Amino acid sequence: MSFDQAKAELNEVGYLNLEGTENIDFAAEIKKLKKEKNAIILAHYYQEPAIQDIADFVGDSLQLSYKAAEADADLIVFAGVHFMAETAKILNPNKKVVLPDLNAGCSLSEACEAKDLKAFKELHPNHLVVTYVNTSAEVKAISDLCCTSSNAKKIVDSIPLDQPIIFAPDKNLGAWIQKETGRDMLLWDGACIVHEAFSIDKLILTHKEHPKAKIIAHPESEDHILKTAEYIGSTSGLINYVKTNPAKEFIVATEAGILHEMQKEVPNKELIPAPSHEDNTCACSECPYMKMNNMRKLYLCMKYELPEIQVSKEIQEKALIPIQRMLDISAKK
Ligand code: 13P
Ligand code: SF4
Repeated sequence: MSFDQAKAELNEVGYLNLEGTENIDFAAEIKKLKKEKNAIILAHYYQEPAIQDIADFVGDSLQLSYKAAEADADLIVFAGVHFMAETAKILNPNKKVVLPDLNAGCSLSEACEAKDLKAFKELHPNHLVVTYVNTSAEVKAISDLCCTSSNAKKIVDSIPLDQPIIFAPDKNLGAWIQKETGRDMLLWDGACIVHEAFSIDKLILTHKEHPKAKIIAHPESEDHILKTAEYIGSTSGLINYVKTNPAKEFIVATEAGILHEMQKEVPNKELIPAPSHEDNTCACSECPYMKMNNMRKLYLCMKYELPEIQVSKEIQEKALIPIQRMLDISAKK
């Protein structure tokens, strides 16, 4: 379904008419709807705290894919961004998957259109295409393997050494994986607007103020930020690190939504968000796409079961192949 079609449908059922929702206790209503509709709410760590608190499961993009694949609820409510909900639909095509705001996209996904990747593949016919899950279903459908930030190294390591690779669309994650694996890959020129916004100058100043703090970073960050980090990992990897590392202070270079779950896990440790270039007020970096979802939209989306994620059978079947390969490789010890 195109965005315009979905919008027309939403208008019909009054979804866009938000009047009359002012006095609703969204948390209570969402809990009721969850039972009534046998729904499961899957939320990414970058969602606002109220959404994380009401979700059945909060996780990183790989964990959410596994949960979506095994979900036996009638309705999968995906509190995250479009590519994540689409991945859930690809993995579990007979379920209805809804996303609170259809506009919740991703700068990485937008940087890599299927037609451009197809043309690039044609220029490099001997290359195998590894795409980060932050891509559209159409891009996945022409990929050989998918990866997330938590399994990218393992996925690339699983490819024979003499096999040339195209890695898309995140150039920062790709460059980090190149370093980690020693593989020479052709990198697509995409980036995450949130992780590219961290300021190295401000980070150094922050570290001067907290000299004992360990810097930890998501691999979507730029190389100069990653060079300062004691640990680099996915959102779940970062949470795990602060739990298991004995340090008492951490400077965290990823989207600020992660701090909610992290602080719950380590209530006695100090978590300092890494500062971004633009930020003169609160030093935190928020993904504008992730933050398009809110409790009101979550409630309306569950009530009307809209906007629904649609993927054609042809694309679903093709896109499932690289995702399933990723899950299989990832699950191997
Ligand atoms: P992970 O959930 O794999 O850490 O990825 C973070 C991200 O940027 C999702 O958009
Ligand atoms: Fe995309 Fe970056 Fe937002 Fe993740 S944080 S959804 S990679 S724009």
